[in-house]
Amino acid sequence: MAEQLIIQGTTKQERYETLLPQIAAVVDGETDIIANMANVSAMLQETFRFWWTGFYRVVDGELVLGPFQGPMACTRIRKGRGVCGTAWAKAETQLVPDVDKFPGHIACSSASRSEIVVPIIREGEVVAVLDIDSDRLDAFDETDRRYLEQIAALL
Ligand code: SME
Repeated sequence: MAEQLIIQGTTKQERYETLLPQIAAVVDGETDIIANMANVSAMLQETFRFWWTGFYRVVDGELVLGPFQGPMACTRIRKGRGVCGTAWAKAETQLVPDVDKFPGHIACSSASRSEIVVPIIREGEVVAVLDIDSDRLDAFDETDRRYLEQIAALL
């Protein structure tokens, strides 16, 4: 309970600053990317209580659903499709303040209002994306982008 109160009292930046070394410690020495994705989605969700937090991996030329926290989601996404497929095709973070204004957004859940998708790049290739959805409009900003890109680089 006390811990929860402390977390609620901190800013977004402070929460990420606390989380980043914890994630670095958890993934350090673990080479299995699925195990690491499972822990990272749990840790992000524990900290921020987003609507949906999870990963899609590039498998045989498609994005395939990986470890996540939240309601069930679409299992496969093609390159260039939706926010996730765009982050993959462009190898760039997609910050979407209003999903209804993103052409081709894939509505896995009608509750999702804003979204950020960060590509995970290894040796110049996108191997996965980290996707976070909020049920609030405009939930993500440059602070999220900066820290989530650092988290993606740890994987
Ligand atoms: N909205 C995403 C699909 C994945 S779900 O949000 C979990 C997209 O447009 O790529």
